[in-house]
Amino acid sequence: MKIGILEGDYIGPEIMAEAIKVLNAVSQKRKLDVELVDLEVSGKAFDKYGKHLPEHTLEAAAKCDALLKGPFGGPTEEINHPKWSGLERGAILPLRKNFNLYANLRESKVFKPLIHLSPLKQEVIDGVNILIVRELTGGMYFGEQREEIVNGERRWSDSEAYSESEIRRISITAFKCAMQRRKKLTLVAKSNILKNSILWREVFNEVAKEFPDVTTDYMHVDNASMQLVLNPRQFDVIVTSNMFGDILSDEAAVLPGSIGLLPSASLGESSFGLYEPIHGSAPTIAGKNMANPLSMILCIPLMLYYTFNMKDAAALVDNAVEQVLNAGFRTKDLFSANDDPSKVLGTVEFGNAVVEAVLKS
Ligand code: IPM
Ligand code: MG
Repeated sequence: MKIGILEGDYIGPEIMAEAIKVLNAVSQKRKLDVELVDLEVSGKAFDKYGKHLPEHTLEAAAKCDALLKGPFGGPTEEINHPKWSGLERGAILPLRKNFNLYANLRESKVFKPLIHLSPLKQEVIDGVNILIVRELTGGMYFGEQREEIVNGERRWSDSEAYSESEIRRISITAFKCAMQRRKKLTLVAKSNILKNSILWREVFNEVAKEFPDVTTDYMHVDNASMQLVLNPRQFDVIVTSNMFGDILSDEAAVLPGSIGLLPSASLGESSFGLYEPIHGSAPTIAGKNMANPLSMILCIPLMLYYTFNMKDAAALVDNAVEQVLNAGFRTKDLFSANDDPSKVLGTVEFGNAVVEAVLKS
């Protein structure tokens, strides 16, 4: 397996190093043949080439089976610096579009030993496991943008359009995911207002006929955002547009207690996938051995599962992480009053604990 490494900025290299250690441990256990390819991107590429995503990076990435991506971005006070300001449209969106990664999977699940960290009451959050399937290469993110002067004032616009085929393929992905889970799928849109949401409902209902075992329902996005905090357990899989998915997946991501816990997968038609944490590059804690590497480490089982179809190897890592948390080990962001302060580990030490658990299992 050939894996492209886009380590990213600030805490990116630190958490990536831990994920790679864990991958090496799995490959040692399961005799996998892993080749890692370093790919120049984001801040470092900008310093060297004046571009966030140079052509040679894309070419090398295309030769890989999967990409592991760390968070991209700089500090808030440098937000207007060219090194960081064009990053979204200069690297993040082109990466998604270039590899046609139209399905973004973000799972928010509660880790039992961390349940007290949730902003919701324990009885509300207990047992929550929600998979948001977000459309990633269409909609408002890729719609027409205009800067006009109308009646002597600036009038700027973005537009959202979806074609049937785009809705169909993401719906199929979501139904397939639901089949592997609790077989419940909720479509979230805004069909009381938006034309393209009506199309989402129609195409979704057509696809539903091919998956009779999946129970479906529909929610307007405003209601869905409320239901996510009122009664998150009612959800299994949610499928939605790029923009709504961006917003709802952040909301869902904090339910387990720390945004540092969750990985995501971006997939297309083939087994090629891009795996990344859903949080940013956290410049304020970079270089301090403080970052929680779990979101990056948990990209490994996602990659093993979706790209390489290695369910056992994926479970090996998931179980190792659970063991480490069950044993009371924490990173700083996960520490709370009832925890044993001697079990608060740095980024590297936490990674070591997961590696040890993998090797012992
Ligand atoms: C995400 C992020 C990105 C998005 C940004 C960084 C472009 O918020 O992956 O959710 O809006 O898709
Ligand atoms: Mg987002």
